[in-house]
Amino acid sequence: MKIEPVTVTLKNNITVTLRAAVKSDAEALLEAGWRYLEESPYLITTINEFNWTQQQEQAWIRSLNEKENGLLLVAVYNTKIIGSLDLRGELRSKVYQNATLGIALRKQWQQIGLGTALLQTAINWAQQKGILKNIWLNVHATNERAIALYKKMGFKEAGLQPNYIKEADGSFTDNKLMGLALN
Ligand SMILES: CC(C)(COP(=O)(O)OP(=O)(O)OC[C@H]1O[C@@H](n2cnc3c(N)ncnc32)[C@H](O)[C@@H]1OP(=O)(O)O)[C@@H](O)C(=O)NCCC(=O)NCCS
Repeated sequence: MKIEPVTVTLKNNITVTLRAAVKSDAEALLEAGWRYLEESPYLITTINEFNWTQQQEQAWIRSLNEKENGLLLVAVYNTKIIGSLDLRGELRSKVYQNATLGIALRKQWQQIGLGTALLQTAINWAQQKGILKNIWLNVHATNERAIALYKKMGFKEAGLQPNYIKEADGSFTDNKLMGLALN
């Protein structure tokens, strides 16, 4: 098994399950992805670019499950995907010990500890596995909640790319690179 499922009780007293994604999650993951993009201004992919077929999504799930430096976690409540986290491990041998993290939650499940629980579960997995040495992530420099959460989990700022992101209104936002060194 990729990872033992974890149950966690959130600040609203609802208990949810965190587990590795499986092939049959493809449709629900695509649906959740569309909703994340509608609900958050802090994701880089646009709705038009989010156009994978179920087969492509299944292949992505399989590739993250097969690789020792990859992980795709889903948060599930009543069989519905309410959040997800991916660790995309590098392919080439010299950088295989690095993965880039992405995370998003459905809006009504934000700010009640689910992001903390997903990140902690992914970090625990990476530490136990012992393959990854660094987890990296990119975040809008304006995304205060996400940055606060990443700092709480031990991530440190590693760089800033000025005006990296072009917003829908034509304005530009800096991209912040953050990293967590695993021991
Ligand atoms: C960013 C995201 C993953 C965070 O997950 P979450 O479940 O909302 O966060 P949590 O409730 O676990 O924790 C947030 C923490 O930041 C704190 N926080 C929230 N807003 C804050 C702010 N403006 N300034 C400082 N701290 C803040 C909270 O108090 C909380 O800490 P605590 O649990 O110690 O009180 C989630 O909100 C989300 O999916 N947002 C939309 C998509 C997105 O931005 N993804 C990240 C792209 S890099």
